Amino acid sequence: MSSHGDPIRMSAQKCGPLTGTADVPGDKSISHRALILGALSVGETKISGLLEGEDVLDTAKAMQAFGASVTRHGPGAWTVQGVGVGGFAEPEQVIDCGNSGTGVRLIMGAMACCDISATFTGDGSLRKRPMGRITDPLALFGAQSYGRKGGRLPMTVVGAPDPAPVVYTPPMASAQVKSAVLLAGLNAPGQTVVIEPVATRDHTERMLRGFGAQVDVQDTPEGTRITLQGQPELTGQVVAVPRDPSSAAFPVCAALIVPGSDVLVPGVSQNPTRNGLITTLQEMGGRIEVLNPREEGGEPVADLRVRASQLHGIEVPAARAASMIDEYPVLSAVAAYATGITTMRGVHELRVKESDRISAMARGLEANGVRVEEDEDTLIVHGSGPDGVAGGGLAETHLDHRIAMSFMILGLAANAPVRIDDGTPIATSFPIFEDLLNGLGADIRRD
Ligand code: S3P
Repeated sequence: MSSHGDPIRMSAQKCGPLTGTADVPGDKSISHRALILGALSVGETKISGLLEGEDVLDTAKAMQAFGASVTRHGPGAWTVQGVGVGGFAEPEQVIDCGNSGTGVRLIMGAMACCDISATFTGDGSLRKRPMGRITDPLALFGAQSYGRKGGRLPMTVVGAPDPAPVVYTPPMASAQVKSAVLLAGLNAPGQTVVIEPVATRDHTERMLRGFGAQVDVQDTPEGTRITLQGQPELTGQVVAVPRDPSSAAFPVCAALIVPGSDVLVPGVSQNPTRNGLITTLQEMGGRIEVLNPREEGGEPVADLRVRASQLHGIEVPAARAASMIDEYPVLSAVAAYATGITTMRGVHELRVKESDRISAMARGLEANGVRVEEDEDTLIVHGSGPDGVAGGGLAETHLDHRIAMSFMILGLAANAPVRIDDGTPIATSFPIFEDLLNGLGADIRRD
């Protein structure tokens, strides 16, 4: 269980050029999936490069509670002895997923077609987030759920004893919803189908195949049609978790805005379902060279050389939102340094992340002298251009790691320090954030 202790106030100040290599930790999405698919497999899964952030550690504990045996052997090196598809045991205790929407939603899917019940909860952020988007499709398999009003945690899911396969079109672009349905479909007979009008990150499909499931993906006029053959025997695998492009976004953005910077960020995903930010930053005039393309851990990756650049505002199309959904907070910090206006459209899903990220970024940017406009689905940042961002303000992070880190990046080039009320959530996804950035030459402090 993640328990945030006392809030840690932090500040970021203007610093000299950032230089060196930014080795960011393992991908959070793939780390959760490696543990869950390992637990649903027969035999041993060996994982290297696992992200040891609180979100993933909570998923590791949850997999143990469902009967898998999960062992840490060294930094990022873990094994999972799985129980096989349909083999989950009923947990004796409440499953606490901490801050992690991905953890709780994928695990609900994974247990929904087992003849067991489980009760889930999380921290103050996760207890506010909607779970109906998961329990609605799980009900089609025959699973029942009983939560707080509005489909909020704590919530008990009663797995379907005799599940039926499902054909489902998620009403929102969400890899978590897609993944929950596919994981539930593993223990249903016949074919489970998800039709995605807008493509989202495809790690579940890729990894399910790697663990031995039959997953067919077709482009159709309705969108991407993903068909899973139910009740496969998954077998333990060796998983090398690639680095997290959503964590790489922070040193990349810092290098763009701190004058004179020249930073190498190795092994950044080029998976089209994850790399919308790099395209966007290049369109804004960011000097980002994509070097040495190759495959790592089953993902296309490349090294990025990033040099400080005078950026200009652009319109980020709604169609790109799913491929950079976690990167809008840091993009909006970078946009504050651009000349002109950056308009981010189609971003309503940001309202139901670890915090309402449109509002959290807007309020924190305003507190630091940046002009912002927002509506339900749009965030507009008026760049300060060569005058730079005033800074000097305190941003509230609302238990949201990406809000906390984005304001620390904002502060690295601001005219006065930028402060956050609480940096503890950073440990959920990027425990070495402060050391890594300061190692490149940043000035991030605990106040
Ligand atoms: C994730 C999917 C995204 C993303 C989250 C991780 C995943 O959420 O924001 O950080 O691993 O599937 P949605 O699927 O709800 O957009």
